Amino acid sequence: MRLANGQDLESLMKGLFHIRTYGCQMNERDSEAVAAALTAAGYAAADSESEADILLFNTCSVRERAERKALGKIGGLVKLKRKRPEILIGLFGCMAQRLKNELLDKMPHVDFVIGTDRLADLPMVLADAAEKHARIAAVEPSDADSAAALEAMDGRLSPEDAGERPLSAYVAIMRGCNRFCSYCIVPYVRGREKSRNPERIINEAAELAANGVREITLLGQNVAAYGLEGRLAPNPGESPFALLLERLAKIDGLKRIRFISPHPAFFNDRLIDAIASTPKVCGNVHLPLQSGSDKILKAMNRGYTAAEYLAIADKLREKVPEMTFSTDVIVGFPGERESDFQETRTIFNTIEFDNAYIFKYSPRGGTKAAKLADSIPTEVKEERNHILLEDLKQAAVKRNESLVWDRKSPC
Ligand code: SAH
Ligand code: SF4
Ligand code: F3S
Repeated sequence: MRLANGQDLESLMKGLFHIRTYGCQMNERDSEAVAAALTAAGYAAADSESEADILLFNTCSVRERAERKALGKIGGLVKLKRKRPEILIGLFGCMAQRLKNELLDKMPHVDFVIGTDRLADLPMVLADAAEKHARIAAVEPSDADSAAALEAMDGRLSPEDAGERPLSAYVAIMRGCNRFCSYCIVPYVRGREKSRNPERIINEAAELAANGVREITLLGQNVAAYGLEGRLAPNPGESPFALLLERLAKIDGLKRIRFISPHPAFFNDRLIDAIASTPKVCGNVHLPLQSGSDKILKAMNRGYTAAEYLAIADKLREKVPEMTFSTDVIVGFPGERESDFQETRTIFNTIEFDNAYIFKYSPRGGTKAAKLADSIPTEVKEERNHILLEDLKQAAVKRNESLVWDRKSPC
C-alpha cells in the first residue's frame, strides 16, 4: 500500500503479524493486549496468516487435546519456514509456559517461546529474535514490579486501530489461581493469584463504555477471588469482588456485566446479594460444578460438597427467580464409579443448566491427580459425556416447549 506522499507503507512498518489463539477467554484477552503492544511498537496486523511475516501462537495446556492441536499446527510450519526462513515463529501462553525450552529443542523452526509471566516482554523478545537471529526462551518470572507487569498486559487497540467499535469487551481483573484443584494445570502455568487495582479496572470499563461498549465480561482464572490477596475463601460478609461489581454497575452507558469463571467456594451471602441487587449483573452465572459426587469432589480438592453447590444455586434463584446457570463438568476422573456419575447426573438435572461444557478427564503431568491411575476407560468417559450432553439437550427442549405460545388459548 502507498501513502499519499508516495512512500510504501510496508517499508515503514516493522512487519505484519498474525496471532492464532487457543484456549480460554483470558488467552483471547492476552492476544488482544499483545496485538495492541505490537501495534504501538510499529508492527501491523496481517489480514491473513499467509500474508504475515510474524506468526504468533497463544497456546493452552488445560487438556492434552488442546496441546496436541497447537503442536500439530505449529509442527506443520516446518515447510513454510524452509521456504521463507525470514518468517518469525513465536509461542506464548500456557503450553509455552509448561514446556518451555523443550519446545525450542523439539521444533527447530520455532524462534521464540514466552512464558505467561513475561508477556509484557514480547515486543522486546521479538525484536531481539529478528535483529540477532537468535532463538530465545523468556519463560522465567520477570523481576519487574508485578503490578506494573500486570497492567502492561492490559493494553487494548483503539477503536480506530481495531477498525471497529465493539459492543462487548473482556476486562481482565485478576490472573492466576491458588486453588490447586487436583486435576488442573492452570495454577502451574498461570502462577499465583494477582488482582488488578480497582481504580484501573473502573477507569478501563468507563473508557470502554465511553467508546460504545455496552457489555463487559470480567475475566480471571478465579474472578470471585478478586482482591482477597490469595486467600482460599472469603470471610463471611467479605467480598471485594461484590464491591467491584457494584462500582462497575454505576458506570453510565454500561448495560450489562458478566464474569467468568467464579469458584463456588467464593459465593458467600455478600456476593449473592450483590448479584441479586445489581440489575446490570447478568442473570446467567457460570458456576463450575465438576462433579456431583462428594467423594470425587474431595479427590478433586474442590472444597465444597454437592449440597453446598446446590444451596448456592438455590439462594441465587430464590433472590432472582429467572436466574439461569451454565457449568463445567469433568467425567471419568480417576475412581469415578457409576454411582458417582449418577450423583453428578442427579444434580445436573436438578439445576437444569442452560449450557454446560462436559470434559473427559485428561491427566496433566505435575498435578496431584496425575499420580493416580487414569482408571476410567475412554469408552466409559465417552459414554458419560454423551449422557450428560443428551440430558442437557432434553432440558433445553423442555424449556423451549414451555415458551411455545399456544395458538388455541385466548390471549
Ligand atoms: N478457572 C476455571 C477453570 C478453567 S479450566 C474454574 O475454576 O472454573 C476450564 C475447565 O476445564 C474446568 O472447569 C474443568 O472443567 C476443565 N478441566 C480442567 N482441567 C482438566 C483436566 N485435566 N481434564 C479435563 N478437564 C479439565
Ligand atoms: Fe483450575 Fe481449580 Fe483454579 Fe479453576 S479453581 S483454574 S479448576 S485450579
Ligand atoms: Fe488453557 Fe491456560 Fe486458559 S491452560 S484454559 S489457556 S488459563
